[in-house]
Amino acid sequence: MSEPEWLLRLKKMDEQAELGGGRERIEAQHKRGKLTARERLRRLLDPDTFQELDKFVTHRVTEFGMEKNTPLGDGVVTGFGKVNGRLVYVFSQDFTVFGGSLGEAFGKKVTKVMDLAMKAGAPIVGLNDSGGARIQEGVVSLAAYSEIFFRNTIASGVIPQISVILGPSAGGAVYSPALTDLVLMVKGTSNMFITGPDVVKAALGQVVEPQELGGAEIHASRSGVAHFVVDTEDEVFLMVRQLLAFFPQNNAEPAPRVKPRDEPGREDPSLREVLPTDINAAYDMREVVRRVVDDGAYLEVHAAWAPNITVGFARLDGYPVGIVGNQPEHLSGAIDIDSADKAARFVRMCDAFNIPIVTFVDVPGYMPGVDQEHGGIIRHGSKMLFAYCEATVPKVTLITRKAYGGAYCAMGSKYSRADLNYAWPTAEIAVMGPEGAVNIIFTKELQRSQDGAQERARLIGEYREKFANPYVAASRGIIDAVIDPAVTRPTLIAALASLRDKTEFRPSKKHGNIPL
Ligand code: HXC
Repeated sequence: MSEPEWLLRLKKMDEQAELGGGRERIEAQHKRGKLTARERLRRLLDPDTFQELDKFVTHRVTEFGMEKNTPLGDGVVTGFGKVNGRLVYVFSQDFTVFGGSLGEAFGKKVTKVMDLAMKAGAPIVGLNDSGGARIQEGVVSLAAYSEIFFRNTIASGVIPQISVILGPSAGGAVYSPALTDLVLMVKGTSNMFITGPDVVKAALGQVVEPQELGGAEIHASRSGVAHFVVDTEDEVFLMVRQLLAFFPQNNAEPAPRVKPRDEPGREDPSLREVLPTDINAAYDMREVVRRVVDDGAYLEVHAAWAPNITVGFARLDGYPVGIVGNQPEHLSGAIDIDSADKAARFVRMCDAFNIPIVTFVDVPGYMPGVDQEHGGIIRHGSKMLFAYCEATVPKVTLITRKAYGGAYCAMGSKYSRADLNYAWPTAEIAVMGPEGAVNIIFTKELQRSQDGAQERARLIGEYREKFANPYVAASRGIIDAVIDPAVTRPTLIAALASLRDKTEFRPSKKHGNIPL
């Protein structure tokens, strides 16, 4: 029996929509090493879960010959599906249609799924591959972008928003991703810039390649715009799936637990040997983190940017946690402008989505220097204080070694309202390190002394004995417990379990005024 006319028509339209900008452009997309908008969604979502919306939407532009070219879908594939069995809204820009550029109809499709995601309380993932504002649509296109920016802002902290950059992301196309929680890029094929190489050349006479100007590695290591950079598109979708598993569907839900394989009571005596014998020698804080968390699995965020602090996701007894740790391997773990921005943003993201924060402290202080002072270390450094102080999720802090000065206050101290503060016996909590302290408070004595070096060593020893240990802090309840490093994991798990139903109030206000 032949198929009825109406079914044939629907099938034909479906087929047409699925071809986007046509076979040639799809081939060109593949030749560039990129997948099509639909192929990408198939990799991101659980099999057979995608429900497409607005497949037959077209633009209404009647100038520049556009009226003769009205591709179904208008350059973006939108809808909802599932990731790990949980609902997620998606849009996937189709570079084969007007270079994925955004006009009125395109914009309305995107804002529709953003609105639905907000109503349903589910995450939204945007797959970006776009030449920016659709030139033929002029101001209408700018308005469409602005509608998206508004929704990104209102949804911020309510539903998780993840942006994947899979090709050019030029002009207006960069700001929506920048407003979302996490940005992922693919090496070699993706780039982000406000003004591309041609404009840079015309305006400033500088010649720069697209990848050099705004490629994945630049944004992952220099600008901090990208949180993750991976080698292939296949990897990027696996990464998004992994990331979503740490987040609740929205800010009213707890972060989702997975059944743990790792023993909650597992002790690790090797942690007793993890610190170098030289107090100033470097070690990798991520190694400490991995020995403590479930299955040694630590998903580092912003790994290549501001590496003097490490932030990322892990699980303790199956519950997601956000980790913030000083990294003695880089700049001795001192906090500078970029690392303060990085940590503050991560703490706020965890707080917004009910992910407890575990802080590992080994910090010699804020970074000194003319560049840092003139660059605004005061303004940037204060973001960390602000972020920790305003966060009301469970906050547990462990000091492994140094916790000096203002950096002690910033790194989840009792006074930025960490709920429980632990220290290893090797912790040193003081206004500054023994050498600097002795230089300042014993200047005259050292000048008068016959044998300066010996006297200096004696005073340093005395200072270290008195202040550079965790017991002064423990005697005042500033540290809640000094623990054997071997029991770090069971201690942190017990601490977080005790805080699971924690409530902490802040005065109601329109919003704070974080120093930006
Ligand atoms: C309309 C566009 C377009 C755009 C690309 N195309 N960008 N159409 N508006 N913004 C079309 C091209 O005409 C071409 O159509 C197809 O997409 C592929 O583009 P190519 O240039 O052939 O591809 P490629 O060489 O890979 O270069 C991609 C590109 C380049 C780097 C994105 O196209 C480019 O530089 N585009 C302009 C980027 C830009 O300046 N955008 C506006 C920013 S201003 P055919 O038919 O040949 O396939 C902005 C302000 C918004 O966005 C502010 C909001 C607040």
